[in-house]
Amino acid sequence: MGDTVENRRERVKAALAAAGAAGLSGEALAAELGCSRASVHRHVDALRRSGLAIDGGPTGYHLVGDQDLIVPAMIEPRLVAPLAGPVEWTHTIGSTNDEASRRARGGAPEGLVIGSDHQSAGRGRRGRAWVDNPGDALMFSLVLRPPIAPVDVGLLPLLIAVGLADAIAPLAAHDVGIAWPNDVIIDRRKVAGILMELSGDHERVSYAVAGIGINVRSAPTIDDARWTPGCLADLGADVARADLLISVLGAIGTRYRTLLRDGPSDVLDAYASRDLLAGRSVTLALEAGTLTGTGAGVDPLGRLRLTTGEGETRVAAGEVVGVGA
Ligand code: BTN
Repeated sequence: MGDTVENRRERVKAALAAAGAAGLSGEALAAELGCSRASVHRHVDALRRSGLAIDGGPTGYHLVGDQDLIVPAMIEPRLVAPLAGPVEWTHTIGSTNDEASRRARGGAPEGLVIGSDHQSAGRGRRGRAWVDNPGDALMFSLVLRPPIAPVDVGLLPLLIAVGLADAIAPLAAHDVGIAWPNDVIIDRRKVAGILMELSGDHERVSYAVAGIGINVRSAPTIDDARWTPGCLADLGADVARADLLISVLGAIGTRYRTLLRDGPSDVLDAYASRDLLAGRSVTLALEAGTLTGTGAGVDPLGRLRLTTGEGETRVAAGEVVGVGA
């Protein structure tokens, strides 16, 4: 992010968050940003219009109460390599996946996080929309540059889902399950979705963008008939988005390091322990129609194994459209 208006506003927000209840004078903010006090005033007004509660008085400005903000400067020191940022956060964006892909194409490093409090054109899998209530969801895209063979890329969506489940499980009062390839489900409600987008050729993966959306405080209407949308707050998990971001990146980083060092058994075992489709009747939408069978786990490449009347089928790409008993 260059020195854009949006960036300067984020810096005002970061400075106010760091100052806490003491707040900062207009003069101090102007010195920090290298701009005039009038321009500080305009940034503060714009932040207020975007929903941030900022009190102003004779001694300066301060943030009101606990607003569950994400301030990159406070997140980055708490991240661990190889997923150690940089973190860039905006108030509104089209889709964080679009921006992260653009940056990855331009050579952005592994670990870059592009996040936003609101997406105006959030994307789900299979061309669906992903909607949010501004500030209520944790939405970001993570750039990975995995040194793995393209044949193994089917493991990445599982790895991200397992990392999310690792981070969410200690907060939730119910078991956290995964519906292949990467819907995160608690008590039959979908609380998080993942959109993986990859670039490479048949020899190597150039980059992967993992787009993650977690419903933290409210569950918007999700254009997805299979699962009722749910949110962490309604499921007993009360968490600040900044803390959740740090624990999600930490958990994904741990699984990712283990995959690269020891191979896929760790991810496969963790996935199996949360597999919601195993032993249940599953209907998949494929390019050529639908297929129904009994879920039988995944193979070492992350493909869904389905047992049908004709034996076992392995599916690399498809959409679960029905889950029975
Ligand atoms: C799905 O379940 O269909 C996938 C949803 C993925 C949503 C996230 S939110 C952050 C990132 N940016 C997007 O436009 N989509 C992903």
